[in-house]
Amino acid sequence: MASSEQIGIIDRIAGPVVQASNMLGSKLYDVARIGEEKLVGEIIRLTGDIATVQVYESTEGLTPGEPVYLTHSPLSVELGPGLIRQIFDGIQRPLPVIREKSGDFIARGIEIPGLDHKKIWDFEPSVKVGDKITGGDILGEIPETPTVDFKLIVPPNIKGKLEFIAKRGDYTIDDTSATIVTPSGDKVDLKFYQEWPVRQPRPFHLRLPPSVPLITGQRIFDTFAPIAKGGTGAIPGGFGTGKTVSQHQLAKWSDAKIVVYVGCGERGNEMTDVLREFPKLVDPYTGGPLMDRTVLIANTSNMPVAAREASVYTGITLAEFFRDMGYDVAMMADSTSRWAEAMREISGRLEEMPGEESFPAYLASRIAQYYERAGRVMTLGSIPRESSITVVGAISPPGGDFSEPVTQNTLRIVKVFWALSKDLASRRHFPAIDYLLSYTLYWSALEDHYIENVNSEFPKLRSEALALLQKDKELQDIVALVGPDALPPSEKIILETARMIKEDFLQQNAFHEIDSFCSLEKQYLMLKTILRFYEKASDLYRKGAIVTDIFSHDAVVKIARMKYVDRNEIETSLNELMKEIDGLTPQQFGIEEDK
Ligand SMILES: Nc1ncnc2c1ncn2[C@@H]1O[C@H](COP(=O)(O)OP(=O)(O)OP(=O)(O)O)[C@@H](O)[C@H]1O
Ligand SMILES: [Mg+2]
Repeated sequence: MASSEQIGIIDRIAGPVVQASNMLGSKLYDVARIGEEKLVGEIIRLTGDIATVQVYESTEGLTPGEPVYLTHSPLSVELGPGLIRQIFDGIQRPLPVIREKSGDFIARGIEIPGLDHKKIWDFEPSVKVGDKITGGDILGEIPETPTVDFKLIVPPNIKGKLEFIAKRGDYTIDDTSATIVTPSGDKVDLKFYQEWPVRQPRPFHLRLPPSVPLITGQRIFDTFAPIAKGGTGAIPGGFGTGKTVSQHQLAKWSDAKIVVYVGCGERGNEMTDVLREFPKLVDPYTGGPLMDRTVLIANTSNMPVAAREASVYTGITLAEFFRDMGYDVAMMADSTSRWAEAMREISGRLEEMPGEESFPAYLASRIAQYYERAGRVMTLGSIPRESSITVVGAISPPGGDFSEPVTQNTLRIVKVFWALSKDLASRRHFPAIDYLLSYTLYWSALEDHYIENVNSEFPKLRSEALALLQKDKELQDIVALVGPDALPPSEKIILETARMIKEDFLQQNAFHEIDSFCSLEKQYLMLKTILRFYEKASDLYRKGAIVTDIFSHDAVVKIARMKYVDRNEIETSLNELMKEIDGLTPQQFGIEEDK
C-alpha cells in the first residue's frame, strides 16, 4: 500500500462509515487510513473538503478528532505468485498471517500485504532481450503449485522492447523481472507482481460465445440446466435449502483450472467447514489436492460489513488475473444477499434515498456490473489465449421469497437459474434444485458440445426426460385429487419412470464418496438406462404385463444403484444392465407368447 500522509480529521462516526474534514486533495475511491490505528477505509463520497469513508475494519473506539491519512491510491490487490492455496479477508489480507500476528482477535490497522514478499519463487523466462512486448504477453513461468503454473504477464497498457529479462533462477516478487523500453523511450521496470484496483475490470481482447460447458459433476446442473464456461448463474434458496452445499460442490468438482471461492457474510462455521474440508479434497481432474487450484476469500458475518462489500470485488479481480494467464476460472460467492445487505447498510449510513426494500437505487447496476465481469474471452497479448470466468452467486432471499429485489435483479442478469426448493429440501430430495422451475439460457449454444463430446443422442434423452418430468407434474396434480388408482396404466408407467429420474438420477448425495461427482459420460449412461427401461416397460405393458410387476423387477433395483457404481466400472456395468433390460420378455411377467 502506498505511503500515507496525514491530512484530515474525523468529524463523525456512524458504524462502518466515517466522515472527515480537511480532506482537500483526496480522490473518490482512494484508500484512506483512519484514526491513530490507521484502519483501512475507502473514500466513497466527497463534498467540498468533507470526505465520507467506508471503513473495512471495526470502528469501535474510534473518536472524532483523530487523524485521517491519505494514500492517493484506490483499493487495490496484489496480483502475483502465491495467491493459490491462500485464504484472504475481504481486502486481500491473508488470514493465516493476520492470525499469526494478532492471535484469534484480528487486531486493527494491521498492514499486511496480500502476497508474501519474502518467499522465493523459481522463475523461467520464455522471452529474450530485444523481443517486442505488449500488455498481456507472457514473460515466463513459475511453477506455483503442482497443478498450476503461474504466468508472468505484462500489465495492460505497457508496450515496447524488452531490454532486460530475469534469467532462470530464484526471485522474490519485489525483484525486477523485466525492463521494457516504451516507444517514447521510457524505461518501465516490472516486478513479479502487479497491483490492480478492485473496482476496475481488467481488460481483455474480445468476448467469445459461451459454447463450452463448465462441467460440474452434478447431474441436475450438467444434464438439465448446464452453465457455460464464462457464463453466469444464480442459486437462490431459503434457509437451509442447500445453497452452501451446492456452492461447495461447484468449487470442488467444476472443471475449471482455478476456483475462487468467496464466503461472503455467511456464518463463520460454514467457512470453517470449507477450511477444514477443502484441504483434504482430491481434484478429480488431476488427482492432486484441490487446494492446489483454489483461492479462498472469507468474510464471515462477524467481520466488518464494508469489507464484505469489497470481498466480491477482490474475488473477481483475482479471478480476472487468472483468466488473463489463460485459465478457466470459476468464481463462487456465498451469499450475494449478504453483499447486497452490506451495500444497504452503508447506503443507509450515507442517508441516501432508499430504493426497493431499503436497498440503494444502484443495487441493480452493482449486481449487473459484477456479473458482467464474467465471460469467455480472448486475452490481451500478441498471442491471445482463450480463457474464461464463470460466476455463480448464491442468494438468500428472506423467507425464500424469490420476488425480493436481490433475486429479481440477479435473475435479470444471469443466464442460469438454479432454484432451490423448500419443498424438495424438506422431503430430503438433494440437491433440492427445482427441476421444473430452474433453467439455462445456454442450452442451444452448448448442445453441439454435448453431441460431439458426450453422445449424439444426449439432447434427445435430455428432452425426453424433461418432458417426462413435466408430464409427471401434471399427473401428480391429478393424483392429489383422485388418487393414483384412477390413472390408466400407461400414465402409471410415466409416474414410475419420473420417480426413477427424480430419485435415481436427480438426487445426488454430496457427501457420498462416489456419488458426489458424476462424469458426463456416466450421466449419459444413467439417463439412457432409465429411458431404456421406460421404453421396455411400455412395450411389456402393451404385451399384457402388469405395471406393478414390471416396476418390481430386479432391474429397477439395479437402476437405483447406478449412481454408486464406480466411474471405472460404470460403462461395463450399465451396458450389461441395458442388455438385461433389452432381454426382458413378456414371458418373464407371466404372459404367454404372441399375446
Ligand atoms: N447435495 C446434497 N447432498 C446431501 N445433502 C445435502 C445436499 N444439499 C443440501 N444438503 C443438506 O442440506 C443441509 C443444508 O444445506 P446448506 O447448508 O447448503 O443450506 P444453505 O441454503 O446454505 O443454508 P443457510 O441458509 O443456513 O446458509 C446440509 O447440511 C445437508 O444436510
Ligand atoms: Mg449457507
